[in-house]
Amino acid sequence: MTDASRFSGPFQAGDRVQLTGPKGRMNTIFLEPGKVFHTHRGAIEHDAIIGLPDGSVVENGVGVEHLALRPLLTDIVMSMPRGAAIIYPKDAAQILALADVFPGATVAEAGVGSGALSMWLLRALGPDGRLLSFERREEFADVARGNVTSYFGSEPENWSITLGDLTEALPTVTEPGSVDRVVLDMLAPWECVDAVSEALKPGGVLLCYIATVTQLSRVTEAIRASGNFTNPDASETMIRGWHVEGLAVRPDHRMIGHTGFLLTARRLAPGAVLPQLKRRASKSEFSDEDVEAWTPGALGERNVSDKSLRRRVRAATAGADYATHRGEDQHDGEDSDAAGDPRPESSPESTP
Ligand SMILES: C[S@@+](CC[C@H](N)C(=O)[O-])C[C@H]1O[C@@H](n2cnc3c(N)ncnc32)[C@H](O)[C@@H]1O
Repeated sequence: MTDASRFSGPFQAGDRVQLTGPKGRMNTIFLEPGKVFHTHRGAIEHDAIIGLPDGSVVENGVGVEHLALRPLLTDIVMSMPRGAAIIYPKDAAQILALADVFPGATVAEAGVGSGALSMWLLRALGPDGRLLSFERREEFADVARGNVTSYFGSEPENWSITLGDLTEALPTVTEPGSVDRVVLDMLAPWECVDAVSEALKPGGVLLCYIATVTQLSRVTEAIRASGNFTNPDASETMIRGWHVEGLAVRPDHRMIGHTGFLLTARRLAPGAVLPQLKRRASKSEFSDEDVEAWTPGALGERNVSDKSLRRRVRAATAGADYATHRGEDQHDGEDSDAAGDPRPESSPESTP
């Protein structure tokens, strides 16, 4: 699926490189023979970087040093064009572990959003695995396709995006009991529990990434009420960075306080009844008032304007075009990365 030399080894033409200047400012460039990267404090020729080992220090024309590194997937997902909000690396890492994603597995995910989780899943599945992604908004699917293609250098053959609502689309793409893992990142995962029960293999894992407590409560009860799963487990992941310098060793002042909750449950064998299941929630336990608290507006779903979305689709597809045509000489006569170049050159230091 992927060419490992894209991710390690000496820098080659077409590689994405992160340059960090003396004040910590980062710029991402795509290496092209003959091109020049201009900063306000001098210029660096791409040819001076091509062939160097990853992690080299290069000087610009006036002797200012820049550290050159291939960005990690974490850097890429945090800086790539977004249609919908992404799953952050700290949660993606936990998802791979808690959903027990293994090489060769068949995984279904919805919605695909900006494709951030798709990238982590595709890497973990390896060439023998299969990722079936579902997305009901075509523009988001386009952003995801652009981002994933840009990262892997071509659209992975073991990946598909099906447009439509998961509840209707999943049975059209999968046989009953054929999917190893399902990951849901969407507003109303409880609507998908029946379709997911049908698609999962016995013992398969359902993992939901959920933004709010009200959604957590509703999907947990829906999973219990289905009678098809083990008792769901819920958790959240908080990472607190530390400042470690000489004797000044302390937690960072700032951290990402909340992203989402993770909920996992395993598919029971058909007809199996969970022995320790003492109570079953029923829909009648929710009042109209409860349901009101679960509407998209109440849950804080924000709409992206059509204009802004079209801009993000253009940015993502431009990155993908470049990745798939790298090596072809399309930029004769250009000497600056900045002039009219549609490819992403953004800082990976985005904050939520
Ligand atoms: C928060 S985004 C997913 C982000 C993605 N996991 C990532 O890391 O980039 C949620 C997406 O789910 C899609 N969605 C919501 N309900 C859906 C459903 N029932 N079927 C398919 N897609 C759905 C939305 O259109 C939206 O793009």
